[in-house]
Amino acid sequence: MENRLLHTPEGVRDIYGNDYERKLTLQLEFLQILRNYGYREIDTPSFEYFDVYSGEIGTTPSDELYKFFDKDNNTLVLRPDFTPGVARAAAKYFIEDNVHVKLSYSGNVFSNARSLSGKLKENTEIGAEFMGDGTVEADGEMIAMAVELLKSAGLKDFQICIGNAGYFKGLCEEAEIDGDLEMNLRDEIGNKNQFAAFNLIKDIEMLESQSDKLLRCVELFGDVSVLDKALVGISNERSKAAIDRLHAVYAQAEQRGIQDYISFDMSMLSKYNYYTGIIFRAYTSSLGDAILKGGRYDNLLAKFGHDAPALGFTLSLDDLVTALNNEESGRTKDDGYLTFALTKGRLADKTIEMLQKTGISLAEMEDKESRKLIFTDETNKVRVFLAKGPDVPTYVEHGAADIGVVGEDTILEEGRKIFEVLDLDIGKCRMCIAGPESARELLQHHEMIKVATKYPEITKDYFQNVKHQTVDIIKLNGSIELAPLVGLADVICDIVETGSTLRENGLVVLEEVVPLSARLVVNTVSMRIHAYRINKLIKDLTDVINTVESVI
Ligand code: PRP
Repeated sequence: MENRLLHTPEGVRDIYGNDYERKLTLQLEFLQILRNYGYREIDTPSFEYFDVYSGEIGTTPSDELYKFFDKDNNTLVLRPDFTPGVARAAAKYFIEDNVHVKLSYSGNVFSNARSLSGKLKENTEIGAEFMGDGTVEADGEMIAMAVELLKSAGLKDFQICIGNAGYFKGLCEEAEIDGDLEMNLRDEIGNKNQFAAFNLIKDIEMLESQSDKLLRCVELFGDVSVLDKALVGISNERSKAAIDRLHAVYAQAEQRGIQDYISFDMSMLSKYNYYTGIIFRAYTSSLGDAILKGGRYDNLLAKFGHDAPALGFTLSLDDLVTALNNEESGRTKDDGYLTFALTKGRLADKTIEMLQKTGISLAEMEDKESRKLIFTDETNKVRVFLAKGPDVPTYVEHGAADIGVVGEDTILEEGRKIFEVLDLDIGKCRMCIAGPESARELLQHHEMIKVATKYPEITKDYFQNVKHQTVDIIKLNGSIELAPLVGLADVICDIVETGSTLRENGLVVLEEVVPLSARLVVNTVSMRIHAYRINKLIKDLTDVINTVESVI
């Protein structure tokens, strides 16, 4: 029992020795660099009123905020990031008409993220905010500072990828898409999930050329030549202006001699309605996620009563120390191999068959007696390992695998930050609500019912957001069909493939939740570092799928 006193809660840690020294040194050096650009430090409170970080202002979902009450029953939150707090303070103290305000900050931010995900819940960030200047020179300065910080830290291999929220917005306006549909489409395009984006707009009345342009955002990434490709067929002024702005940002980068660090991505969109102009992120091959994030958010200050343009970035010092340590010990994602995580079992057999048709040789995997965990194709520089389905998105999100093959059910359930790039058209089945015929009535009359499932997140989402019904969810780990048979639950939410398990147990499908199939998923950093190889793989697999379909 006493030992508990020695432990920290999950997601927070003690930092000491070289790591802490390194972090402190970087922090001081960075603040000095920002000061050289005219940025003055500001320290805002670690907690603020909930409203400062909620709704339109925040970029963190409410359930990921640490919330608590003060003695007057006000809801307070530990800051999940600095920008809204700094914007609030700037609006209160500094912003007057036509005044430039340059502020820098460093401190800890808190995220009540999902447990056991290997992610820190307390991070030290450093960042800068430039308010009152809407010019491209301000964009250029912000990106130059980001490059200078990463270079001065000694990070050798990184790239700043830039998008512009206005490009997608212009396409949506042209196609008369707004509200929830625009938000959902932005999510799917941002996840490079072209087929989910297609499903969202396929029944919406618009010209084919308009839907093509929206879906094409996913493919428009790479060096500066992408900007010219992005202009092809574009007639709306907003998208054109967004590309012009990116050209001007690139010219700024050239002037400052940092163009080699710059790439572009038209699907770089934030999940939130926050960014209004350029959006940028820095990636390094020694980390599985962006190390620095920033962009222009010209509407934020208006929420605090001052209408002024603004942009900024934030960099995680903890991630930077990890990236530097990884780089120094040679642990980078760019070792020449593409690593695949495949879902064990039937899906793996079908996937291996498909991969072999693209020319990848996985003969080693045919020895079913082998207890080897990782298989390699030296000629194609491909590494493959098998994992349990729910673990595949985890490996991919953290960058331990560049690419994964996993069922859509697992992707929906796990909710990981990964790109979902291709429907492999295998492992087809349906997520259904099933039970005895007598339970149909309970679903129709919205009774409080018990639902057994291996997929609590999908179940919760379906009953809350689609059916608006309150249910008790019971999490089981397998043989879900047993639950209604032995009286543990009224119905189940489970996968139905052939339907024979249900039939043989006297159960029926009562409602269909979502059709499912296996998907190719990609780590967000790998997609950029291995863009050429991954795009070729997607194309080759698409050809394999189309050949199979045309044979049928
Ligand atoms: C899945 C699913 C169903 C069954 C459906 O279970 O959970 O039980 O397959 O397939 P069918 O419609 O072809 O009968 P799985 O075999 O993966 O094992 P589990 O029950 O232990 O989850």
